[in-house]
Amino acid sequence: MTSQRDDGDENAWSADDYDGGHAFVFEYGEGVVDLLDPAPGERVLDLGCGTGHLTASIADSGANVVGLDADRAMVAEAARTYPDLRFVQGDARQFAFREPFDAVFSNAALHWIDEQDAVLDSVGDVLRPGGRFVAELGGTGNVESIVGAVEAAAAERGYTVENPWYFPSVGEYASLLEAHGFEVRYATLFDRPTELDDGEAGLASWLGMFGDGLLGPVPEDERDAVVADVEDHLRKELFADGTWTADYRRLRVVARDGTSKPQK
Ligand code: BEZ
Repeated sequence: MTSQRDDGDENAWSADDYDGGHAFVFEYGEGVVDLLDPAPGERVLDLGCGTGHLTASIADSGANVVGLDADRAMVAEAARTYPDLRFVQGDARQFAFREPFDAVFSNAALHWIDEQDAVLDSVGDVLRPGGRFVAELGGTGNVESIVGAVEAAAAERGYTVENPWYFPSVGEYASLLEAHGFEVRYATLFDRPTELDDGEAGLASWLGMFGDGLLGPVPEDERDAVVADVEDHLRKELFADGTWTADYRRLRVVARDGTSKPQK
């Protein structure tokens, strides 16, 4: 669920912080599970499963689901919380399973990964012919206000920061899927303003959890000042009634694997 988080990676997260203060990530993901519409007995891979809550939600339908995440701590937490489910640590750019899946599902994970060609190759490889890929990720324009404010605040101190995430448009992602042998059945981009937890501290907390890549060029001892400037800049636009609201935009896709494959 990261720019390939693993041990030592700058994006390694605390599973407790993730569940405790950023639960909206998987709470909103329930809508993507509805889009998946898992059926009893289906084999489903949850790619970038985090702490496993949506994996469990998929399993509730009677599907046989496997959760995969790059982050060892997340996988360990998921396995602790849902001991009856199977979780594996793995790299979304390069994974393989012996048995094919009927569906690959992914929520709020793919925008952390630059190498989308490798991801879609792996997804295609593990799907049975005709299997479906159902995913939600940040779409073009996602958190644009936040990124813009961080860019401006960092620039005032002489640092150049760049959006570290992959937020494609419908056209870009649909073309990529087609180039990898998928038939795109559904693709949509929509605004989903997302209330952050933690009240007044919500934006700082979000940047603390997710913003390491974005704030990378800013030295640690200047980050609090940059975040304070960002808050000042965005307060009018994104803060109301004690709550920060991030300018999320989601890209949702459903695609069918259209390649013919040798029998395994
Ligand atoms: C998102 O889910 O859109 C997202 C989360 C963290 C950082 C950037 C985007």
